[in-house]
This record gives sequence, structure tokens and C-alpha cells, in this order.
Amino acid sequence: MALLVHFSVAFLSVLWAEVWRDIYHMAGHYWKPLQPWHNLHHRIFNPDLEVTNWELYHRSELFNDVPEAIFMVIMGLIGAGIMTYFYDLPGGILGVCYSGSFLVTSLARSRGWLLNTDLTHKPGLFEAPPAPWLVNRAYHWRHHFDNGRAYFGGTISLMDKILGTALSLKGKRVAVTGASGAMGGALLEELKKQGATVVPLTSSGVEGVRWQTGAEADHIELLKTIDILILNHGVNVYGARDPEAIKTSYEVNAYSVWRWMELFFATIETNRDRALKEVWINTSEAEVSPAFSPLYELSKRWIGDIITLRRLDAPCIVRKIILGPFKSKLNPYGVMSSGWVAWAVVALAKRDWRDIIVTINPLTYLFFPLKEFSRSLYFRLFSKR
Ligand SMILES: NC(=O)c1ccc[n+]([C@@H]2O[C@H](COP(=O)([O-])OP(=O)(O)OC[C@H]3O[C@@H](n4cnc5c(N)ncnc54)[C@H](OP(=O)(O)O)[C@@H]3O)[C@@H](O)[C@H]2O)c1
Repeated sequence: MALLVHFSVAFLSVLWAEVWRDIYHMAGHYWKPLQPWHNLHHRIFNPDLEVTNWELYHRSELFNDVPEAIFMVIMGLIGAGIMTYFYDLPGGILGVCYSGSFLVTSLARSRGWLLNTDLTHKPGLFEAPPAPWLVNRAYHWRHHFDNGRAYFGGTISLMDKILGTALSLKGKRVAVTGASGAMGGALLEELKKQGATVVPLTSSGVEGVRWQTGAEADHIELLKTIDILILNHGVNVYGARDPEAIKTSYEVNAYSVWRWMELFFATIETNRDRALKEVWINTSEAEVSPAFSPLYELSKRWIGDIITLRRLDAPCIVRKIILGPFKSKLNPYGVMSSGWVAWAVVALAKRDWRDIIVTINPLTYLFFPLKEFSRSLYFRLFSKR
């Protein structure tokens, strides 16, 4: 037990160091005395993450990265001192050593040595989209070239998740299908509030880009210009079970969603696309809970599984939106309001949740992650890239 406590203190001391790193980083953006040095750090990279001026790079290491590491060491010493003096738990020294390692490498880089330790600024093609917890190159690219007032995480994205700065919607072009429906309309409003430029996609409404199932490929040129595609259209045939109902349910809820997703993936070519593009898919808690509509459940479970399978090697971030009952044409008995649900979806997306669950059913919060984890593991083990 005592060992566990010591390990926990040691682990938390590393987290503590990362929190102070990100606070120092934020100060570099918001606190005038630090701004010139942090601005220098921002100026020295081009969008391919190549250093544009090595002399300035060395200076920015000395006046931006070195002080940041010294600050982490000082805060680590304070934390470790308190834990050792008052509680006789010296594990906090790990955080000090951890911070010290960044001090050594940033000092070395300021002299032109150990340049390969600057992990988040390495040039070259991104091998993966932004990671959910660890800050990889694509995640950090967003901070440099998407919005400098977001994505502050240096090594982990914990602070961004807390502050809601793990996704910036400002200036993003976001397309939403099912735009004339309750959730489509509410999402469009919420996204506009966040500074996004919205592109409604509709199969029947008067405003927006018209599309119909089976003709998704007609919109490939539009998709090239879209940063975030939200696949939200859906249909509920309630208790029907005739061939036409089967066809409609699968065509609208499943196959057209899959086709949109694949088309969107095909537009991802550059580092910028990998870093910025996202697809969000509104499946339903019907993936794991009864919706008292068999064909709705079947079609939503089919597309839910296909997303789980395909996002194992998707070229961009793929978010699932798992909603409980809200009032709409599709569900007149829904108890939540579409406006509130849309607000919650966007708030969780800004915290980089990859599976966004908003429901009144507590079982979904338990069963969905279990199902998603087990299906994903199964697919990973028994399918190939
Ligand atoms: N309401 C709920 O309780 C609930 C719960 C969980 C998940 N969801 C999901 O949330 C999404 C939005 O549903 P909602 O509740 O907002 O329902 P809604 O108001 O009925 O909106 C659904 C929209 O989907 C589009 N659509 C319907 N039939 C289509 C077709 N044949 N081809 C292409 N588009 C079609 C229509 O928009 P356009 O006319 O603009 O194309 C329609 O307005 C759906 O995917 C639904 O499954 C709903």
C-alpha cells in the first residue's frame, strides 16, 4: 500500500510538471513580458515545421524553452518539498528529474546539439492525425498554424481538455448533413457561435447545398474545402419491417454515411489536412441501447461498427456522437432539447472527446465505452491495415 502511494506521488509529480509547463506556455501568449520570446519561437517555423532561421532557433531555445524548463524545475521542487516535508513522501523528486531532462535538452539545443529531441517540431509527413492524449506533431501543428490561442499542451493535452482549448472551431469550415432537422439546425447555430463558417447539407431544405443518397460523390470538390464534416442525417421507420423500410433505413442511416466518410477520407492529402480535418458521425445510443425501433437499431449498429473498424487507420480524427432521446421529427417523445444537446456536443468536442456521449440513460455511459473498446480490440486483432 505504501509503495502504491509512493508510486502515485511520483506519477502525479510528472503530471504536475506538465501542468506548469502548459501554464508557462499560456503565459507566453497572454503575459506581455514573455510574449516576445514566445513569439520568436512561433516565427522560426514554416508550415512544414522546417526551421527558417537557425540563429533565431537557438535564441528561442535559450529564451523560451530553457526558462520554461527552469520554471518546471522550480515548481517541481516546491511540490516535492511540500510532499517530503509534510507527508514524508519523497516521490515528487521524479517530477524534478523529469523537468530537469527538458532543461538539459533545451540548453543543448540552444547550442545546436541534440536537435532530434525537439519531438513536436520535426519536419516531414505526419504519420498520424492529432493524438487524443499525447501531443504529437499534428496536434502541435494546430497550435502553430491553426489557432495560437488554443492547443497549449506541450506533452499531454490535459490542460486543453480542462480549458476547452483542445479543438478550436474559429474560422473552420464545417459542413453538416440533415441540416433542416432538429439536431442539424441546433448544431449549425452552436458552430456559428464558436466562429465556424457553416455549410448546411440538405436533402430537402430550401437553404444549403442539396444532396441525395447515392449521389454523395457529386460533392467531392466541396469536401476538399471542408475542415469538419458532421454526418448527422438519419431516418426512423419505427415499427416497419417491410423491404422498403429495410432499404430506407440502411441506405440513409448506414450506407450513405459510410460513403460520405470514405469520400472525405479521400480528400486528405497534406499535413494540413491530417492535422485539421475531422469527421463527426451522429450514430445514436441505439448502438448499445434499445430504441424500440428494430431497423433503426440495426442500421445504426451497422454504421457504428463500420466506424469503429475504419477509424483504426483513418487519416483524420473521427468522432462518434452518441445521443440519447431529444425532441425532433424523428423522435417526438425525446426528453432533451436539441439546443442543449448541440451545446453539450460542441463543448465535449472542444475537449477533444472522441466518443461524445450525451444522454439521460446512465447505462449508455457504461455500456458504450465497453462495447467500443471490445469491438475495437477485436477488429484490431482480426483485421489488417
Ligand atoms: N432525436 C433523437 O432522440 C436522436 C437520438 C439519437 C440520435 N439521433 C440522431 O440524430 C440525427 C438527427 O436526427 P434528429 O433527431 O434531429 O431528426 P430530424 O429532425 O428528423 O432530422 C433528421 C434529418 O435527416 C435528414 N434526412 C431524413 N431523411 C433523409 C434522407 N432520405 N436522405 C437524406 N437525409 C435525410 C433530413 O434533413 P434534410 O432534409 O436537411 O436532409 C432530416 O431533417 C439522426 O442521425 C438521428 O438518428 C437522434
